[in-house]
Parts: sequence; structure tokens; C-alpha cells
Amino acid sequence: MTPEQMGQLHLATRNKVRAWSAQEYYTLINDPMATLFARENGFALGRVVQDEAELLMIIVQPNQQSRGFGRAYLSEFEVECRKRGAKNCLLEVAANNEAAKSLYYSSGYEKTGIRKSYYHLDNNQRLDALILNKILV
Ligand SMILES: CC(C)(COP(=O)(O)OP(=O)(O)OC[C@H]1O[C@@H](n2cnc3c(N)ncnc32)[C@H](O)[C@@H]1OP(=O)(O)O)[C@@H](O)C(=O)NCCC(=O)NCCS
Repeated sequence: MTPEQMGQLHLATRNKVRAWSAQEYYTLINDPMATLFARENGFALGRVVQDEAELLMIIVQPNQQSRGFGRAYLSEFEVECRKRGAKNCLLEVAANNEAAKSLYYSSGYEKTGIRKSYYHLDNNQRLDALILNKILV
């Protein structure tokens, strides 16, 4: 999947939070610490720094959602992070993103904190981010 396709997918699935551009995806995936699992209908992108992984974004194409792809891509991402030495994985999720929260909680992630008013929405409102963590080893 190209950075352009990743940016388009992000745009198509965003919920009032700015989508990352193709240029931003290009920079992220070319970081030596990047970990990317990508297929035609979605991707899981993050990075591993020493023994800590961070999931930056996971997206499944809208007409392919709720068919198990998201869970599979998250799992493949974690496998790759473990191979690269990660012992835990952190992520941020918008407090109102019920599908993503459900995926993460049912995959073993636990809430460790809140970033108040972290996301800026189109309508000038703010939204909290939940910080979740999973022990990988
Ligand atoms: C979050 C996302 C990646 C999940 O991918 P998916 O392929 O739809 O998920 P799966 O089919 O693998 O389902 C995994 C779990 O997610 C949850 N889930 C998926 N769709 C859901 C929905 N519409 N409502 C509530 N929970 C949902 C369920 O817990 C599900 O487990 P179950 O099937 O055992 O009930 C997908 O919804 C998406 O791309 N959303 C837009 C981008 C986004 O918000 N990414 C997260 C950024 S933090």
C-alpha cells in the first residue's frame, strides 16, 4: 500500500479528526523504527523504540470492516513488534471510537491514562484520547 493510498483510506474513515496526508505517511513508513503490516484493504502502522511499541494507526477499508481484518492486522502488527524486541504496546484512541475501543479491549489492551482534549475536531470541539497498553511478552 502506498502512502497515497494510506492517506486516502484515512480520509475515508476519519471521524472529524484531521486525516494524515500522503506526505506524513511517507515520512512515518520510512522511519527506520516503523513497523507496517499492510494489505489491499487496510493496514496497521506503528513503530518500535527499544522495548516499546506504539500503534500509530490501524484502518480497514469501510466496506470491508467487521469481517475480522482489523483484529488480524493488529495481531500481525504485534507479532512483528515482538520480533523486534517490543515488550509492550501503547496506543491512543479517541474516547468516542467505540469500534476501535472494542477491538483493543478484546485484544488485551488496558486503559492506563487519558489525554484530555487531545484531538481537535472539525467543529472546533476537543475530544479526549484514551491511552491503552498491552504487555506483549
Ligand atoms: C477499528 C477498525 C480498524 C476495526 O477493524 P474491523 O476490521 O472492522 O474489525 P474486526 O472485524 O476485526 O472486529 C474486531 C473487533 O472490533 C470491534 N468492532 C468492529 N466493528 C465494530 C463496530 N461497528 N461496532 C463496535 N465494535 C466493533 C468488535 O469488538 C470486534 O470483535 P468481534 O468481531 O469479536 O465482535 C475499523 O473499524 C476502522 O478502520 N475504523 C476506522 C479507523 C479507526 O478508527 N482506526 C482506529 C484508530 S485508533
